[in-house]
Order: sequence, then structure tokens, then C-alpha cells
Amino acid sequence: MKVTVVGAGAVGATCADNIARSAVCQELVLLDIKEGLAEGKAQDMMQTAALLGFDTRISGSTNDYSKTAGSDVVVITSGLPRKPGMTREELIGTNAGIVKGVCENILKFSPDAIIIVISNPMDTMTYLALQSTGLPKHRIIGMGGTLDSSRFKYQLSSHLGCSPADLNAVVIGGHGDTTMIPLIRFATWNSLPVTQFLSAEQQEKVVADTMVGGATLTKLIGTSAWYAPGAAGAALVKSILNDEKKLFTCCVKLDGEYGQEDICLGVPVTIGRHGWEKILPMDLNEAEKALFAKSADAVRSMNDVLKTL
Ligand code: 2OP
Repeated sequence: MKVTVVGAGAVGATCADNIARSAVCQELVLLDIKEGLAEGKAQDMMQTAALLGFDTRISGSTNDYSKTAGSDVVVITSGLPRKPGMTREELIGTNAGIVKGVCENILKFSPDAIIIVISNPMDTMTYLALQSTGLPKHRIIGMGGTLDSSRFKYQLSSHLGCSPADLNAVVIGGHGDTTMIPLIRFATWNSLPVTQFLSAEQQEKVVADTMVGGATLTKLIGTSAWYAPGAAGAALVKSILNDEKKLFTCCVKLDGEYGQEDICLGVPVTIGRHGWEKILPMDLNEAEKALFAKSADAVRSMNDVLKTL
């Protein structure tokens, strides 16, 4: 199996590092436009192989897509990250051109690849990847909800004083500070509803803090986060290559599911060898349905910006 990660910045490198550690592929290529960056980081990671005991061969390339030939999965992290005070949406002009170009180059050498999109604004970049490549919808996966659901579990665990791994909780909708929908009503602590243990105020705080999870980190670090985004991308790669059919929230093309079409938005899906395989329905109440429709409206108007570029 072969995986390419495009973009050797913090998110791409962390994603590659996690993929290598999970030993799910024989070959891993890190690619970047900045001379030497991908080669250097790939070599640094390879120098952990003896310590960590993995056998994945990691190589780096400065924009030579022929090195990525025959990849089974490609993770796209390219583009500008956000700076403090910036929304993900403000990156659209610059990142659209970058993501479109990356998709074209990737498909020249890996026509059968499954593509995972991490670049922001993620919902619109996923839609762009789908529109510009014309690939079957199951092969284009936006990572956002996987990350946001993990951040949701982190927030819940800190209020409950429990292990995040014991929680089941999903964030659906867009991957934006105002478009994501942490579904606290469905969240469970090993099958016990978390709402049983949290006051209304605590629940509101968990939801609000989850929604600004990325922005909070951007303010603290000075740039966009990378550990959780990278780990989220790697978890999806692992589920694809091992055909795990794990349930994640991912941004995928909707054709009537959740009352939406002609849009890519976060919903629960199974991830396996064919990409995203099944969209799972949820029994949303009227308020949650309204939030989902509002989120779709916001993402749709962002997608409309693509027509003006
Ligand atoms: C984040 O939320 C990178 O969009 C990503 O941190």
C-alpha cells in the first residue's frame, strides 16, 4: 500500500508521522512545494523508525508528483493555515487554486486514489475537489467532522472526568466556528447519555468550546493546530487501508441525505477500502434539523464564492 501526504507543514508532517507509526502502508510520500522541506521531514521521520519499530519507507519530494505514482490514498493538507483572528472561510481564494492544482497533479499519477481533504475551508475544498476531478463521490472525503468530534470528546471528558476514549459523540454539519453542530443529545459515556451527568450550563459550555476549538488553539499557538488535525487524517487513512469500516463524521457529497443535495457536509459515515461507504441516518429533532439546514446554507454560500474565482 502507498500513501501520499501533500503539504509537509505541521498538519501534513504530523499526519504522515501518525500514518508511519500505525504501520498501515509500505510506502509513504511527503510532498511540498518548498525546496527540501518534505525531504528533510521525511528523513527526520525515517530516523525514528529504529526507535519506534516501524517498517514504512518514508520519502520526501519537492513538487515531483511522479514520486507519488500509484498511491492508494492521498491526503491534501496544502494551503495557507489560518492566523489568529482569521476564519477558515477567509482562506478560500488562495487555497482553492492550490487544492485544484494538487488534485490535477495527483490524479495524473494515481488515478485510482482515494482523496482526503484537510485544507481549509474544508467543506468548500472538499466540494471543489469533487467538482474539479469528477471522481466518484465515495473517493472524496473531507476530514473536518472527525477532528471536531475528537475535540468534542475532549471537552466532554474534561467536564465528566472520564477517558475521551470512553465517549461516543459526533459533530455534524460544517467545519466552521459557526457551522459545526456538536450533537450533545446523542453523546454517550459508554452508552450512558452524557446529558444525565451535565447541567444545562455545562452542556452549553461544552458545545460552545467545541465550536471554537480550532480558533482557541490558533489564538494560543499563533497558527492553526496540527496534532489533532494530523491524527484525524491518519485515522481515516488507517480505516481505509485496513478496511476497518469505522464510523467517523466526514464531509461527503450529499444526494438528498439529511435533506441536502449538491453540497459536501459532515455526516456520520463508514470508512473502508472504497472510501466513504455508507451514510448513517440520525433521528434529528426539529431544532437539530434547523441547525443542519442553516449550516448547509452557510457552506453553500461559501461554495458559491468558487464561481467568482
Ligand atoms: C483546525 O480546526 C486545521 O481546520 C483545522 O484546527
